[in-house]
Amino acid sequence: MQTSADTVREEVREKYAEAALAVSEGSKGSCGSGSCCSGEAPDADFGSALYEAEQRGELPETATLASLGCGNPTAVADLREGEVVLDLGSGGGIDVILSAKRVGPTGIAYGLDMTEEMLSLAQRNAQEAGVRNTVFLRGVIEDVPLPADSVDVVISNCVINLSTDKPAVFAELARVLRPGGRIGISDVVAEDRLTPEERAERGSYVGCIAGALSKGEYEAALEAAGFENVSVEFTHEVADGIHGAIVKAQRPTAAPIQRPAALTASAAGCC
Ligand SMILES: C[S@@+](CC[C@H](N)C(=O)[O-])C[C@H]1O[C@@H](n2cnc3c(N)ncnc32)[C@H](O)[C@@H]1O
Repeated sequence: MQTSADTVREEVREKYAEAALAVSEGSKGSCGSGSCCSGEAPDADFGSALYEAEQRGELPETATLASLGCGNPTAVADLREGEVVLDLGSGGGIDVILSAKRVGPTGIAYGLDMTEEMLSLAQRNAQEAGVRNTVFLRGVIEDVPLPADSVDVVISNCVINLSTDKPAVFAELARVLRPGGRIGISDVVAEDRLTPEERAERGSYVGCIAGALSKGEYEAALEAAGFENVSVEFTHEVADGIHGAIVKAQRPTAAPIQRPAALTASAAGCC
């Protein structure tokens, strides 16, 4: 049976498939009618402007054009040679390519995305960038197709707000990370004063606004999933009370992971 969450996820997939095709045809990432994360916001708030010119210079033009993120997770994740990195919702591959260069030939950068058109674009971009240590996986971030304890660092750029089952995403982060593993995520996050209805008044779900967790909800959800050293820091405001943010946390080295308690219905889901 098709649920409203399935409908929203399909709408998200269709919009990002449109964006991938637009980039493949030479235009900047856009979702046609409706909007992706870049929406109607100024160019400085989303996309490739959030990367240093030096990093942009390391990338094929189509990877830069396809950038639809709200930050630069590779700048906060402090990647080291030989590490295994997983990028949730890897889009056109910008952060996977940058990660692959940081971890070098002894490391691996996985990109996971549910949109076939994005995966094809990312694979072409990785090939053009000349990186060989990338692996692109088709799947959903709520059910990651990797074994437990197999990843050192999870990054993600403006994707978790699009999930219709955020507790499942945080549980998957806890499962795939090795003990001591860390997350360095860029996402859209609301101030705690905004109700879910007020968030939805400021932008659409596919536009990365309506599905944003608040700062307190994000911290509580990560702690409930067993993470420690959790921090959520606003970097730039993208709408009234809604911000691009950097989210960091670590899986404890030894203690058992608790499975997440349910978030409030409004924070956990989309509809
Ligand atoms: C806003 S774009 C960001 C892409 C990329 N991280 C970047 O910075 O350019 C969101 C991406 O996440 C993917 N996505 C959204 N929800 C997803 C889900 N539940 N599972 C897997 N991929 C998802 C979309 O297909 C799209 O490629």
